[in-house]
Amino acid sequence: MSDIAFLTRLRREVERRRTFAIISHPDAGKTTLTEKLLLFGGAIRMAGAVKAKKASRHATSDWMAIEKERGISVTSSVMQFDYDGFAVNLLDTPGHQDFSEDTYRVLTAVDSALMVIDSVKGVETQTRKLMDVCRLRDTPIMTFINKLDRDGRSPFELFDDIEGSLGIECAAMTWPIGMGKLFQGVYDIPQKMLRFFQAGEDKGARPRESVLVRGLDDPELDRQVGAQAADGLRHDIELLEGAGYPFDHGRYLAGKQTPVFFGSAVNNFGVRELLDAFLRHAPAPRPRQTETREVSPLEEPFSGVVFKIQANMDPAHRDRMAFLRVNSGCFTRGTRVSHQRTGKDMLVHNATIFMAQDRAHADEAWPGDIIGIPNHGTLRIGDTLCGREPLRYLGIPHFAPEHFRRVILKNPFKAKQMEKGLQQLTEEGAIQLFKPVTGREHILGAVGVLQFDVITERLRAEYDVHIAVEPINIAAVRWLTGESAVLDRMRRENASVMLTDSDGLPAMSFANEWRLEKAVEEWPQVAFLTARECVSA
Ligand code: G4P
Repeated sequence: MSDIAFLTRLRREVERRRTFAIISHPDAGKTTLTEKLLLFGGAIRMAGAVKAKKASRHATSDWMAIEKERGISVTSSVMQFDYDGFAVNLLDTPGHQDFSEDTYRVLTAVDSALMVIDSVKGVETQTRKLMDVCRLRDTPIMTFINKLDRDGRSPFELFDDIEGSLGIECAAMTWPIGMGKLFQGVYDIPQKMLRFFQAGEDKGARPRESVLVRGLDDPELDRQVGAQAADGLRHDIELLEGAGYPFDHGRYLAGKQTPVFFGSAVNNFGVRELLDAFLRHAPAPRPRQTETREVSPLEEPFSGVVFKIQANMDPAHRDRMAFLRVNSGCFTRGTRVSHQRTGKDMLVHNATIFMAQDRAHADEAWPGDIIGIPNHGTLRIGDTLCGREPLRYLGIPHFAPEHFRRVILKNPFKAKQMEKGLQQLTEEGAIQLFKPVTGREHILGAVGVLQFDVITERLRAEYDVHIAVEPINIAAVRWLTGESAVLDRMRRENASVMLTDSDGLPAMSFANEWRLEKAVEEWPQVAFLTARECVSA
């Protein structure tokens, strides 16, 4: 392909890509909505996988279930489908809160997010946490308020809740007419269209045609929904016009405003409008920051960043899959790339390119796409693969764990094997390994306690290493940065609580909040970090 032809194609591929994740508190309807979106996209064969994944999710103590889930997760953790000329990449975020670190990192690989809120419950804790992460990068967010077929909270109350607890303006795109048993449908504000709800629409019933009205004064509105509901709607929209925010594309893209849609995922109501608006308004891949400069997706040389590692996809081969987001140029099978952390060239000939439909182009991936690269530990979270110019993408965080355990090896002859297993499994990033500067202990830290069960079970199943974990007197760990002379002095004076993480970075443990506060006061020249970039060791 000539340069001009390539750049024209690159621009077209970038413009038609939408890479996003759905965020929600468990049970708000993420799985249901995902399935409906996939059905619209024609990626029906994926739908079963989503259900299966969901089925195994709650079986927190049943390792076999988690294992089964992992078996299908290479195909279902990135779901790509074509719809209306767009190439959509939907990245799955693990639902269980104990997997939240992984979720956080997936969010660094998307250009926007879709937030699902249960109309009965409003904003819940997990949504709040996920929003905090989205806010770090000003990720644009579209909102779907789900379960309108149930008696939920009033839409105004939900708006207040979102605006108050998530700190983002709500711009109504549709507005419900009644709810629960009295739910008739929604008024599509920009299109002035009445869209009627019918329970179980996806089960074959013929949906009632949408009706265009000339505005809220149109008597047709009364004829269609009844005088009382029509008046209610007029009253609501008047209030919205006075006190609400009109949709502002710029503010949405800046992450300051969320366009809000109402519907019922399980009844497939409001989903198509959501998808259409999403494709029209959501951002295509945007420039990304590296250590040295911003890189545009339209630059010809290929570059991308690893945001997730999954170990032992196939237990027989001890392989690991690195999930890389393409940030610029085009990736083609067999591409020779430079591995920024080691400075070595890599020939990537066995990458999995996640394409649900378009087999013709299955050998290439464009900005916004995700590729899976099997490897034996060469690739780590945060690694950049690029062309000749050495680049290092920023923004893939490790979060300070909140729970800690000491590892007890049950069979001392397996020490080496345990070391290897811990090293490999912690590279996935869901759990972190710390070692005291003095002493030979292994300390595990996780954002969620379920991870301790998972690692114990995986060490047994995948490495034949039996461990137990026991509580340890640590309430918090912080990474430390500062001048090396100061850090050295700190290390000498606090040797018993100094740690290094698995990348060799200095950290300090604290038995309680008070000690942490005291240390922060005592060492003003040192930064105590709760998150750190994935680094080059
Ligand atoms: P999640 O992935 O966010 O955890 O939620 P999921 O889609 O699994 O939905 C959680 C529950 O809410 C499911 O019921 C689902 O059927 C239901 N649900 C989803 N959308 C709607 C909706 O629009 N209206 C109503 N009334 N319910 C909805 P479940 O009983 O937990 O599972 P299932 O037996 O239906 O599979």
